Amino acid sequence: MPSPIEVRPLHPSVGAEVRGVDLRKPLAPGVFDAIQQAWLKHHVLVFPGQEITDAEQVAFSRHFGRLEEFPMASVRSGAQKEIFRVANTDADGNLLPSDSEVVVYLSLTQDWHIDSSYRKVASKGSILHGIEVTEEGGETWLVNLADVLAALPPDLKMRIEGRTAIHDFLFARSLRPQLSPLPCDEAAKVPPTEHSLIRHHEVTGVPSIFLSPVYISAISGLSPVESRALVDDLTAFAEQDRFVYRHKWTRHDVLMWDNRSLMHAGRAYDAARQRRVMHRTSIAGGEG
Ligand SMILES: [Fe+2]
Repeated sequence: MPSPIEVRPLHPSVGAEVRGVDLRKPLAPGVFDAIQQAWLKHHVLVFPGQEITDAEQVAFSRHFGRLEEFPMASVRSGAQKEIFRVANTDADGNLLPSDSEVVVYLSLTQDWHIDSSYRKVASKGSILHGIEVTEEGGETWLVNLADVLAALPPDLKMRIEGRTAIHDFLFARSLRPQLSPLPCDEAAKVPPTEHSLIRHHEVTGVPSIFLSPVYISAISGLSPVESRALVDDLTAFAEQDRFVYRHKWTRHDVLMWDNRSLMHAGRAYDAARQRRVMHRTSIAGGEG
């Protein structure tokens, strides 16, 4: 039977464009299955031309599981709590000063990370809608960490085998010392957590490196300097073109990526002059 959607690979390792589906509407079972299969195969799906509301984004996202709420109220949408506003504007559309708390905080998304890796059960996947996109900079880069692990040189592989890493939301914030302390109730929601450096995808079973550089504060059995050196060496290896899909945004692209096999980063842009408004939902992990 022909697929109900059109899937066109964008890169040999990661990424495919999907056409023939309207994300504003509930997905027919055949379409859901086709998207799910394409997602598992290509890790990130790009849906161009999807002018969806927040409610429609939430409804689409819920096809894939329960949704997370971001721990910081300052970047959650007031109207739809499952929406994380990755935006340098306020809710009324005013450009925020580039030294404001929100813009400085969001600059952390420009460091490599896996969304929600600081949770006991990390997110399954994230869905990002480009509402206002930049002319220059602001791309999203995504790395296939399963292919990275498969290609890892033996010496680097030996350095991660059997080790765990501490993932810490507050460690990431400490990388921007100008940020104010997180309110106590929000900090209490994000205690550090420990994950093995090699993990297996809960559906496909394929192993990958659980590499979330911005959140990793320590690696078991290593000093702080050795831990950082290992994270840096892994990141340098992972950044090779053969593992990276680089997405240049067009307005109303929707990206859906698998946090169980990818890390990603936004690229820098001139936040004082260009508007960048993206709405993210994240699917909670642990439910297959
Ligand atoms: Fe992210």
